[in-house]
Amino acid sequence: MGSLGQRDSAPNWTPSSWKARPIKQDVNYEEATAVQKSLEKLNRVPPIVTPTEILKLRESLCEVALGNAFLLQGGDCAELFEYCEADAIESKIKLLLQMSLILIWGMNLPVVRVARIAGQFAKPRSSPMENHDGRQIHSFRGDILNGYSVDERTPDPTRLVSAYMHSAATLNFIRGALSSGIADLHNPLDWELGHVKDQAIKAKYERIVESITESLRFMRTVGADSTASALETVDLYTSHEALLLDYEQSLTRRLQFHPQTKSQSKIETQHTQPNGHSAVPRHDDLKGWFNTSAHFLWIGDRTRQLDGAHIEYIRGIENPIGIKVGPTLQAAELVALLDAVNPTKSIGKVTLITRYGEKHVDLLLPGHIQAVRDSGHTVVWQCDPMHGNTLSTPSGIKTRHFSSILDEVRSALRIHKEQGSFLGGVHLELTGEAVTECVGGSEGLTEDDLNLNYTTYCDPRLNEKQALELAFLVAGHYRDR
Ligand code: PEP
Ligand code: CO
Repeated sequence: MGSLGQRDSAPNWTPSSWKARPIKQDVNYEEATAVQKSLEKLNRVPPIVTPTEILKLRESLCEVALGNAFLLQGGDCAELFEYCEADAIESKIKLLLQMSLILIWGMNLPVVRVARIAGQFAKPRSSPMENHDGRQIHSFRGDILNGYSVDERTPDPTRLVSAYMHSAATLNFIRGALSSGIADLHNPLDWELGHVKDQAIKAKYERIVESITESLRFMRTVGADSTASALETVDLYTSHEALLLDYEQSLTRRLQFHPQTKSQSKIETQHTQPNGHSAVPRHDDLKGWFNTSAHFLWIGDRTRQLDGAHIEYIRGIENPIGIKVGPTLQAAELVALLDAVNPTKSIGKVTLITRYGEKHVDLLLPGHIQAVRDSGHTVVWQCDPMHGNTLSTPSGIKTRHFSSILDEVRSALRIHKEQGSFLGGVHLELTGEAVTECVGGSEGLTEDDLNLNYTTYCDPRLNEKQALELAFLVAGHYRDR
Protein backbone atom coordinates (compact mmCIF):
# COMPACT_ATOMS: atom_id res chain seq x y z
CA MET A 1 0.00 0.00 0.00
CA GLY A 2 2.14 2.87 -1.18
CA SER A 3 1.23 6.51 -1.46
CA LEU A 4 -0.57 7.62 -4.56
CA GLY A 5 2.64 9.19 -5.80
CA GLN A 6 4.63 5.99 -5.42
CA ARG A 7 1.87 3.91 -6.95
CA ASP A 8 2.19 6.09 -10.05
CA SER A 9 -1.31 5.28 -11.27
CA ALA A 10 -2.48 2.04 -12.79
CA PRO A 11 0.15 -0.09 -14.55
CA ASN A 12 0.43 0.35 -18.31
CA TRP A 13 -2.20 3.03 -18.28
CA THR A 14 -2.28 6.41 -19.94
CA PRO A 15 -5.25 8.73 -20.49
CA SER A 16 -5.33 7.45 -24.08
CA SER A 17 -4.60 3.74 -23.55
CA TRP A 18 -8.32 3.06 -24.11
CA LYS A 19 -7.75 3.77 -27.80
CA ALA A 20 -6.09 0.38 -28.27
CA ARG A 21 -9.19 -1.44 -27.03
CA PRO A 22 -12.42 -2.38 -28.79
CA ILE A 23 -15.01 0.32 -28.19
CA LYS A 24 -18.81 0.28 -28.00
CA GLN A 25 -20.97 3.31 -28.76
CA ASP A 26 -18.18 4.91 -30.80
CA VAL A 27 -18.72 8.15 -32.72
CA ASN A 28 -17.83 8.81 -36.33
CA TYR A 29 -17.40 12.49 -36.91
CA GLU A 30 -17.23 13.68 -40.49
CA GLU A 31 -14.48 16.24 -39.92
CA ALA A 32 -11.37 15.01 -38.10
CA THR A 33 -9.76 18.47 -37.99
CA ALA A 34 -12.75 20.02 -36.26
CA VAL A 35 -12.65 17.24 -33.65
CA GLN A 36 -8.95 17.88 -33.12
CA LYS A 37 -9.58 21.59 -32.66
CA SER A 38 -12.23 20.94 -29.99
CA LEU A 39 -10.05 18.45 -28.15
CA GLU A 40 -7.10 20.82 -28.16
CA LYS A 41 -9.30 23.46 -26.61
CA LEU A 42 -10.50 21.00 -23.96
CA ASN A 43 -6.91 20.08 -23.17
CA ARG A 44 -6.24 23.69 -22.21
CA VAL A 45 -9.33 24.71 -20.25
CA PRO A 46 -9.20 24.74 -16.44
CA PRO A 47 -10.58 21.84 -14.40
CA ILE A 48 -14.30 21.97 -13.56
CA VAL A 49 -13.74 20.12 -10.27
CA THR A 50 -10.61 19.75 -8.15
CA PRO A 51 -8.65 16.79 -6.76
CA THR A 52 -9.38 18.02 -3.22
CA GLU A 53 -13.13 17.78 -3.85
CA ILE A 54 -12.79 14.48 -5.66
CA LEU A 55 -10.90 12.86 -2.81
CA LYS A 56 -13.30 14.31 -0.28
CA LEU A 57 -16.12 12.52 -2.07
CA ARG A 58 -14.00 9.40 -2.12
CA GLU A 59 -13.64 9.59 1.64
CA SER A 60 -17.38 10.05 2.02
CA LEU A 61 -18.05 7.04 -0.20
CA CYS A 62 -15.69 5.03 1.96
CA GLU A 63 -18.04 5.82 4.84
CA VAL A 64 -20.99 4.71 2.71
CA ALA A 65 -19.28 1.41 1.87
CA LEU A 66 -18.72 0.84 5.58
CA GLY A 67 -22.38 1.46 6.38
CA ASN A 68 -21.85 4.85 8.05
CA ALA A 69 -23.52 7.07 5.43
CA PHE A 70 -26.01 6.87 2.56
CA LEU A 71 -25.56 7.90 -1.08
CA LEU A 72 -28.33 9.76 -2.88
CA GLN A 73 -27.65 10.16 -6.58
CA GLY A 74 -30.11 11.57 -9.05
CA GLY A 75 -30.91 13.84 -11.95
CA ASP A 76 -31.92 13.76 -15.57
CA CYS A 77 -31.41 10.77 -17.83
CA ALA A 78 -30.17 13.12 -20.56
CA GLU A 79 -29.22 16.59 -19.42
CA LEU A 80 -29.70 19.18 -22.16
CA PHE A 81 -27.78 22.39 -22.76
CA GLU A 82 -31.08 24.25 -22.41
CA TYR A 83 -31.42 22.99 -18.82
CA CYS A 84 -28.55 25.32 -17.97
CA GLU A 85 -30.95 27.87 -16.56
CA ALA A 86 -31.33 29.13 -12.98
CA ASP A 87 -34.83 27.86 -12.13
CA ALA A 88 -34.35 24.39 -13.59
CA ILE A 89 -31.03 23.89 -11.79
CA GLU A 90 -32.37 25.27 -8.54
CA SER A 91 -35.47 23.07 -8.52
CA LYS A 92 -33.32 19.96 -9.07
CA ILE A 93 -30.93 20.90 -6.28
CA LYS A 94 -33.77 21.67 -3.90
CA LEU A 95 -35.38 18.33 -4.63
CA LEU A 96 -32.15 16.49 -3.86
CA LEU A 97 -31.77 18.51 -0.67
CA GLN A 98 -35.33 17.77 0.39
CA MET A 99 -34.89 14.07 -0.30
CA SER A 100 -31.65 14.02 1.63
CA LEU A 101 -33.31 15.70 4.58
CA ILE A 102 -35.94 12.94 4.64
CA LEU A 103 -33.24 10.30 4.41
CA ILE A 104 -31.11 11.81 7.18
CA TRP A 105 -34.15 11.98 9.42
CA GLY A 106 -35.14 8.40 8.63
CA MET A 107 -31.75 6.75 8.66
CA ASN A 108 -29.95 8.82 11.24
CA LEU A 109 -26.96 8.78 8.93
CA PRO A 110 -25.21 11.47 6.92
CA VAL A 111 -26.28 11.58 3.28
CA VAL A 112 -23.81 12.02 0.44
CA ARG A 113 -25.45 13.89 -2.43
CA VAL A 114 -24.33 13.34 -6.00
CA ALA A 115 -26.29 14.90 -8.85
CA ARG A 116 -26.49 13.67 -12.43
CA ILE A 117 -25.81 17.22 -13.55
CA ALA A 118 -23.21 19.55 -15.04
CA GLY A 119 -22.05 17.04 -17.66
CA GLN A 120 -24.65 14.27 -18.10
CA PHE A 121 -24.80 15.03 -21.82
CA ALA A 122 -23.86 11.74 -23.53
CA LYS A 123 -26.31 8.88 -24.03
CA PRO A 124 -25.73 5.28 -25.11
CA ARG A 125 -28.34 4.11 -27.62
CA SER A 126 -29.49 0.66 -28.66
CA SER A 127 -29.15 1.69 -32.29
CA PRO A 128 -26.97 4.46 -33.77
CA MET A 129 -29.55 5.16 -36.50
CA GLU A 130 -33.31 5.48 -36.52
CA ASN A 131 -36.04 5.71 -39.07
CA HIS A 132 -37.56 9.12 -39.68
CA ASP A 133 -40.29 9.44 -42.32
CA GLY A 134 -38.78 6.58 -44.27
CA ARG A 135 -35.17 7.74 -44.13
CA GLN A 136 -32.37 6.76 -41.77
CA ILE A 137 -31.05 9.47 -39.48
CA HIS A 138 -28.62 9.40 -36.54
CA SER A 139 -30.28 8.64 -33.22
CA PHE A 140 -30.12 11.43 -30.65
CA ARG A 141 -27.07 10.62 -28.54
CA GLY A 142 -27.06 13.54 -26.14
CA ASP A 143 -26.29 17.24 -26.52
CA ILE A 144 -22.53 16.67 -26.33
CA LEU A 145 -22.77 14.84 -29.64
CA ASN A 146 -25.78 15.91 -31.68
CA GLY A 147 -29.09 17.73 -31.28
CA TYR A 148 -32.54 16.28 -30.78
CA SER A 149 -34.14 18.15 -33.65
CA VAL A 150 -33.99 16.24 -36.91
CA ASP A 151 -31.78 18.77 -38.68
CA GLU A 152 -29.15 18.59 -35.92
CA ARG A 153 -28.57 14.88 -35.85
CA THR A 154 -25.16 14.81 -37.56
CA PRO A 155 -22.44 14.48 -34.85
CA ASP A 156 -21.04 17.98 -34.33
CA PRO A 157 -17.55 18.28 -32.77
CA THR A 158 -18.10 21.87 -31.58
CA ARG A 159 -20.59 20.42 -29.10
CA LEU A 160 -17.67 18.92 -27.13
CA VAL A 161 -16.56 22.41 -26.11
CA SER A 162 -20.14 23.50 -25.58
CA ALA A 163 -20.61 20.60 -23.15
CA TYR A 164 -17.65 21.82 -21.11
CA MET A 165 -19.00 25.40 -21.07
CA HIS A 166 -22.50 24.33 -20.01
CA SER A 167 -21.07 22.04 -17.32
CA ALA A 168 -18.92 24.84 -15.95
CA ALA A 169 -21.78 27.35 -15.99
CA THR A 170 -24.12 24.90 -14.26
CA LEU A 171 -21.66 24.02 -11.54
CA ASN A 172 -20.77 27.67 -11.09
CA PHE A 173 -24.41 28.44 -10.36
CA ILE A 174 -24.67 25.47 -7.97
CA ARG A 175 -21.57 26.56 -6.08
CA GLY A 176 -22.97 30.08 -5.78
CA ALA A 177 -26.39 28.87 -4.63
CA LEU A 178 -24.85 26.65 -1.96
CA SER A 179 -22.45 29.27 -0.68
CA SER A 180 -25.30 31.78 -0.53
CA GLY A 181 -27.31 29.60 1.80
CA ILE A 182 -29.74 27.61 -0.36
CA ALA A 183 -29.10 24.62 1.91
CA ASP A 184 -28.99 26.48 5.23
CA LEU A 185 -30.84 24.43 7.80
CA HIS A 186 -31.32 27.53 9.93
CA ASN A 187 -33.84 28.63 7.31
CA PRO A 188 -35.91 25.52 6.76
CA LEU A 189 -38.48 27.66 4.98
CA ASP A 190 -36.13 27.55 2.03
CA TRP A 191 -36.49 23.81 2.05
CA GLU A 192 -40.21 23.95 1.41
CA LEU A 193 -41.89 21.90 -1.26
CA GLY A 194 -42.39 23.69 -4.54
CA HIS A 195 -44.85 22.11 -6.94
CA VAL A 196 -46.12 19.47 -4.58
CA LYS A 197 -49.84 19.89 -4.03
CA ASP A 198 -50.46 16.51 -2.44
CA GLN A 199 -51.58 17.27 1.11
CA ALA A 200 -50.49 13.93 2.57
CA ILE A 201 -46.92 14.25 1.26
CA LYS A 202 -46.78 17.89 2.24
CA ALA A 203 -47.95 17.12 5.79
CA LYS A 204 -45.48 14.26 6.15
CA TYR A 205 -42.64 16.43 4.93
CA GLU A 206 -43.61 19.37 7.12
CA ARG A 207 -43.63 17.12 10.19
CA ILE A 208 -40.03 16.15 9.46
CA VAL A 209 -38.96 19.76 8.89
CA GLU A 210 -40.77 20.74 12.10
CA SER A 211 -39.02 18.02 14.09
CA ILE A 212 -35.63 19.04 12.68
CA THR A 213 -36.32 22.73 13.38
CA GLU A 214 -37.26 21.79 16.91
CA SER A 215 -33.97 19.95 17.43
CA LEU A 216 -32.01 22.89 16.03
CA ARG A 217 -33.83 25.28 18.34
CA PHE A 218 -32.98 23.07 21.28
CA MET A 219 -29.34 22.88 20.26
CA ARG A 220 -29.15 26.63 19.99
CA THR A 221 -30.78 27.08 23.39
CA VAL A 222 -28.27 24.84 25.11
CA GLY A 223 -25.44 26.38 23.10
CA ALA A 224 -24.69 23.15 21.30
CA ASP A 225 -24.82 24.46 17.75
CA SER A 226 -21.28 25.77 17.78
CA THR A 227 -20.74 23.70 14.67
CA ALA A 228 -23.20 26.10 13.03
CA SER A 229 -21.26 26.23 9.78
CA ALA A 230 -22.03 22.55 9.25
CA LEU A 231 -25.71 23.50 9.22
CA GLU A 232 -25.28 26.31 6.76
CA THR A 233 -24.32 24.43 3.69
CA VAL A 234 -23.90 20.93 2.35
CA ASP A 235 -21.71 19.17 -0.16
CA LEU A 236 -23.22 18.44 -3.51
CA TYR A 237 -21.13 16.55 -6.02
CA THR A 238 -21.52 16.13 -9.78
CA SER A 239 -21.54 12.97 -11.87
CA HIS A 240 -22.13 11.67 -15.37
CA GLU A 241 -21.65 8.56 -17.47
CA ALA A 242 -18.10 8.40 -18.84
CA LEU A 243 -19.24 7.54 -22.34
CA LEU A 244 -17.52 9.90 -24.75
CA LEU A 245 -13.92 9.00 -23.99
CA ASP A 246 -12.32 11.68 -26.16
CA TYR A 247 -14.02 14.25 -23.94
CA GLU A 248 -13.13 12.47 -20.70
CA GLN A 249 -9.52 12.02 -21.78
CA SER A 250 -9.13 15.72 -22.59
CA LEU A 251 -10.19 16.71 -19.09
CA THR A 252 -8.03 14.08 -17.38
CA ARG A 253 -5.07 15.78 -15.72
CA ARG A 254 -2.13 14.66 -13.67
CA LEU A 255 -2.51 16.84 -10.61
CA GLN A 256 -1.21 17.32 -7.15
CA PHE A 257 -3.56 16.79 -4.27
CA HIS A 258 -3.31 19.20 -1.35
CA PRO A 259 -4.46 17.19 1.63
CA GLN A 260 -6.86 18.45 4.26
CA THR A 261 -4.95 16.57 6.87
CA LYS A 262 -7.55 16.29 9.63
CA SER A 263 -10.14 14.08 7.98
CA GLN A 264 -7.46 12.33 6.02
CA SER A 265 -5.63 10.91 8.99
CA LYS A 266 -8.94 9.78 10.50
CA ILE A 267 -9.70 7.66 7.49
CA GLU A 268 -6.23 6.21 7.34
CA THR A 269 -6.07 5.14 10.92
CA GLN A 270 -9.61 3.92 11.27
CA HIS A 271 -10.28 2.30 7.98
CA THR A 272 -7.26 0.30 7.16
CA GLN A 273 -8.60 -3.20 6.87
CA PRO A 274 -6.93 -6.17 8.59
CA ASN A 275 -5.66 -7.23 5.17
CA GLY A 276 -3.89 -3.88 4.83
CA HIS A 277 -6.20 -2.41 2.15
CA SER A 278 -6.61 1.27 2.73
CA ALA A 279 -9.74 3.30 2.36
CA VAL A 280 -8.17 6.00 0.25
CA PRO A 281 -4.62 6.45 -0.95
CA ARG A 282 -2.08 7.97 1.44
CA HIS A 283 -1.66 11.58 0.61
CA ASP A 284 1.96 12.38 1.18
CA ASP A 285 3.78 13.39 -1.96
CA LEU A 286 0.65 12.89 -3.89
CA LYS A 287 0.10 13.10 -7.62
CA GLY A 288 -2.39 11.21 -9.70
CA TRP A 289 -4.62 11.26 -12.77
CA PHE A 290 -7.91 12.98 -12.07
CA ASN A 291 -10.89 13.31 -14.34
CA THR A 292 -11.65 16.98 -13.73
CA SER A 293 -14.97 17.05 -15.61
CA ALA A 294 -16.98 15.65 -12.66
CA HIS A 295 -16.42 14.29 -9.19
CA PHE A 296 -17.90 10.87 -9.93
CA LEU A 297 -17.97 8.99 -13.24
CA TRP A 298 -19.74 5.78 -14.04
CA ILE A 299 -19.60 3.19 -16.80
CA GLY A 300 -22.94 2.20 -18.30
CA ASP A 301 -24.36 -1.27 -18.66
CA ARG A 302 -23.73 -1.23 -22.41
CA THR A 303 -20.04 -0.32 -22.22
CA ARG A 304 -18.72 -2.32 -19.24
CA GLN A 305 -16.88 -5.03 -21.22
CA LEU A 306 -13.83 -6.23 -19.25
CA ASP A 307 -11.43 -5.76 -22.19
CA GLY A 308 -13.23 -2.79 -23.68
CA ALA A 309 -12.18 0.84 -23.98
CA HIS A 310 -14.42 2.23 -21.24
CA ILE A 311 -13.15 -0.06 -18.49
CA GLU A 312 -9.61 0.61 -19.67
CA TYR A 313 -10.14 4.36 -19.36
CA ILE A 314 -11.86 4.31 -15.98
CA ARG A 315 -9.29 2.07 -14.27
CA GLY A 316 -6.64 4.80 -14.40
CA ILE A 317 -8.35 7.72 -12.69
CA GLU A 318 -8.37 8.56 -8.99
CA ASN A 319 -12.04 9.64 -8.93
CA PRO A 320 -14.57 7.42 -7.24
CA ILE A 321 -16.29 5.46 -10.01
CA GLY A 322 -19.47 3.52 -10.63
CA ILE A 323 -20.25 0.46 -12.72
CA LYS A 324 -23.78 -0.33 -13.80
CA VAL A 325 -24.66 -3.94 -13.07
CA GLY A 326 -27.44 -5.26 -15.30
CA PRO A 327 -29.08 -8.68 -15.48
CA THR A 328 -26.59 -10.13 -17.98
CA LEU A 329 -23.51 -9.58 -15.82
CA GLN A 330 -22.21 -12.85 -14.37
CA ALA A 331 -20.85 -12.90 -10.82
CA ALA A 332 -17.35 -13.98 -11.94
CA GLU A 333 -17.17 -11.18 -14.47
CA LEU A 334 -18.31 -8.68 -11.87
CA VAL A 335 -15.42 -9.67 -9.63
CA ALA A 336 -13.00 -9.53 -12.58
CA LEU A 337 -14.22 -5.99 -13.27
CA LEU A 338 -13.61 -4.97 -9.66
CA ASP A 339 -10.11 -6.44 -9.78
CA ALA A 340 -9.43 -4.54 -13.01
CA VAL A 341 -10.61 -1.12 -11.86
CA ASN A 342 -9.57 -1.37 -8.21
CA PRO A 343 -6.65 -3.77 -7.80
CA THR A 344 -5.72 -2.30 -4.41
CA LYS A 345 -9.26 -2.95 -3.12
CA SER A 346 -9.61 0.60 -1.87
CA ILE A 347 -12.82 0.74 0.17
CA GLY A 348 -15.69 2.61 -1.47
CA LYS A 349 -13.65 3.46 -4.58
CA VAL A 350 -16.24 1.56 -6.64
CA THR A 351 -19.99 1.92 -6.48
CA LEU A 352 -21.90 -1.00 -7.95
CA ILE A 353 -25.09 0.42 -9.40
CA THR A 354 -27.44 -2.55 -9.68
CA ARG A 355 -30.28 -2.22 -12.20
CA TYR A 356 -31.75 -5.65 -12.72
CA GLY A 357 -35.47 -4.85 -12.97
CA GLU A 358 -38.03 -5.78 -10.33
CA LYS A 359 -38.44 -9.28 -11.80
CA HIS A 360 -34.74 -10.16 -11.72
CA VAL A 361 -33.45 -8.60 -8.54
CA ASP A 362 -34.31 -11.58 -6.31
CA LEU A 363 -32.56 -13.99 -8.60
CA LEU A 364 -29.38 -11.99 -9.18
CA LEU A 365 -28.57 -9.70 -6.28
CA PRO A 366 -27.84 -12.34 -3.59
CA GLY A 367 -25.25 -14.10 -5.79
CA HIS A 368 -23.58 -10.79 -6.66
CA ILE A 369 -23.39 -9.76 -3.01
CA GLN A 370 -21.83 -13.11 -2.06
CA ALA A 371 -19.32 -13.05 -4.92
CA VAL A 372 -18.18 -9.53 -4.07
CA ARG A 373 -17.89 -10.36 -0.39
CA ASP A 374 -15.81 -13.46 -1.17
CA SER A 375 -13.53 -11.39 -3.40
CA GLY A 376 -12.50 -9.11 -0.51
CA HIS A 377 -13.75 -5.94 -2.20
CA THR A 378 -15.75 -3.48 -0.08
CA VAL A 379 -18.00 -1.57 -2.45
CA VAL A 380 -20.86 0.87 -2.24
CA TRP A 381 -24.03 -1.01 -3.20
CA GLN A 382 -26.44 1.31 -4.91
CA CYS A 383 -29.85 0.43 -6.33
CA ASP A 384 -30.89 1.99 -9.63
CA PRO A 385 -34.55 0.97 -9.79
CA MET A 386 -35.10 2.86 -13.04
CA HIS A 387 -33.20 1.23 -15.88
CA GLY A 388 -34.39 -2.36 -15.48
CA ASN A 389 -38.00 -1.22 -15.40
CA THR A 390 -38.46 0.75 -18.61
CA LEU A 391 -41.29 -0.23 -20.95
CA SER A 392 -43.28 1.15 -23.85
CA THR A 393 -47.03 1.75 -23.75
CA PRO A 394 -49.12 0.30 -26.59
CA SER A 395 -48.99 3.75 -28.22
CA GLY A 396 -45.19 3.70 -28.04
CA ILE A 397 -44.45 6.04 -25.12
CA LYS A 398 -41.49 5.08 -22.96
CA THR A 399 -42.50 4.90 -19.31
CA ARG A 400 -41.88 3.22 -15.98
CA HIS A 401 -44.36 2.07 -13.37
CA PHE A 402 -43.76 3.76 -10.05
CA SER A 403 -44.80 0.51 -8.35
CA SER A 404 -42.02 -1.40 -10.17
CA ILE A 405 -39.50 1.22 -9.08
CA LEU A 406 -40.62 0.97 -5.46
CA ASP A 407 -40.61 -2.83 -5.69
CA GLU A 408 -37.03 -3.01 -6.89
CA VAL A 409 -35.89 -0.69 -4.08
CA ARG A 410 -37.90 -2.68 -1.51
CA SER A 411 -36.40 -5.95 -2.75
CA ALA A 412 -32.88 -4.54 -2.70
CA LEU A 413 -33.37 -3.29 0.88
CA ARG A 414 -34.68 -6.70 1.97
CA ILE A 415 -32.01 -8.74 0.17
CA HIS A 416 -29.13 -6.66 1.52
CA LYS A 417 -30.55 -7.07 5.00
CA GLU A 418 -30.92 -10.85 4.54
CA GLN A 419 -27.36 -11.04 3.28
CA GLY A 420 -25.94 -8.99 6.16
CA SER A 421 -24.94 -6.38 3.59
CA PHE A 422 -25.72 -2.66 3.39
CA LEU A 423 -27.72 -0.98 0.66
CA GLY A 424 -25.66 2.18 0.61
CA GLY A 425 -27.57 4.25 -1.91
CA VAL A 426 -30.13 4.83 -4.60
CA HIS A 427 -29.56 6.08 -8.15
CA LEU A 428 -32.56 7.82 -9.65
CA GLU A 429 -33.72 9.66 -12.73
CA LEU A 430 -35.75 12.59 -11.49
CA THR A 431 -36.55 16.20 -12.07
CA GLY A 432 -37.86 19.05 -9.95
CA GLU A 433 -40.58 19.73 -12.53
CA ALA A 434 -44.13 18.34 -12.32
CA VAL A 435 -43.63 16.01 -15.28
CA THR A 436 -45.85 13.07 -16.19
CA GLU A 437 -43.37 10.47 -17.38
CA CYS A 438 -43.65 7.58 -14.90
CA VAL A 439 -47.11 6.13 -14.26
CA GLY A 440 -48.48 5.53 -10.75
CA GLY A 441 -47.52 7.22 -7.50
CA SER A 442 -49.90 8.92 -5.09
CA GLU A 443 -51.29 11.07 -7.91
CA GLY A 444 -52.27 7.87 -9.69
CA LEU A 445 -50.92 8.93 -13.09
CA THR A 446 -52.20 6.66 -15.83
CA GLU A 447 -50.92 5.95 -19.33
CA ASP A 448 -53.49 8.42 -20.62
CA ASP A 449 -51.94 11.16 -18.47
CA LEU A 450 -48.45 10.68 -19.89
CA ASN A 451 -48.70 13.32 -22.58
CA LEU A 452 -49.90 16.00 -20.12
CA ASN A 453 -46.32 17.03 -19.38
CA TYR A 454 -43.93 14.52 -20.95
CA THR A 455 -40.72 16.45 -21.57
CA THR A 456 -37.83 13.99 -21.29
CA TYR A 457 -35.57 13.52 -24.29
CA CYS A 458 -34.50 10.10 -23.12
CA ASP A 459 -35.77 7.99 -20.20
CA PRO A 460 -38.86 8.79 -18.11
CA ARG A 461 -38.04 10.54 -14.81
CA LEU A 462 -39.71 10.67 -11.41
CA ASN A 463 -41.43 13.97 -10.75
CA GLU A 464 -40.89 15.83 -7.49
CA LYS A 465 -43.74 14.05 -5.73
CA GLN A 466 -42.77 10.57 -6.83
CA ALA A 467 -39.17 11.25 -5.84
CA LEU A 468 -40.20 12.36 -2.35
CA GLU A 469 -42.44 9.31 -1.96
CA LEU A 470 -39.48 7.14 -2.76
CA ALA A 471 -37.33 8.95 -0.20
CA PHE A 472 -40.07 8.34 2.40
CA LEU A 473 -40.04 4.64 1.54
CA VAL A 474 -36.30 4.30 2.13
CA ALA A 475 -36.37 6.51 5.23
CA GLY A 476 -39.26 4.50 6.65
CA HIS A 477 -37.46 1.21 6.08
CA TYR A 478 -34.56 2.34 8.25
CA ARG A 479 -36.56 4.30 10.81
CA ASP A 480 -38.76 1.29 11.54
CA ARG A 481 -35.82 -1.08 11.98
C1 PEP B 1 -28.44 5.77 -17.55
O1 PEP B 1 -28.07 5.73 -16.36
O2 PEP B 1 -29.01 6.74 -18.07
C2 PEP B 1 -28.23 4.54 -18.39
C3 PEP B 1 -28.18 4.60 -19.70
O3 PEP B 1 -28.14 3.46 -17.64
P1 PEP B 1 -27.69 1.96 -17.99
O4 PEP B 1 -26.28 2.04 -18.45
O5 PEP B 1 -27.84 1.27 -16.67
O6 PEP B 1 -28.65 1.44 -19.01
CO1 CO C 1 -31.51 6.71 -18.34
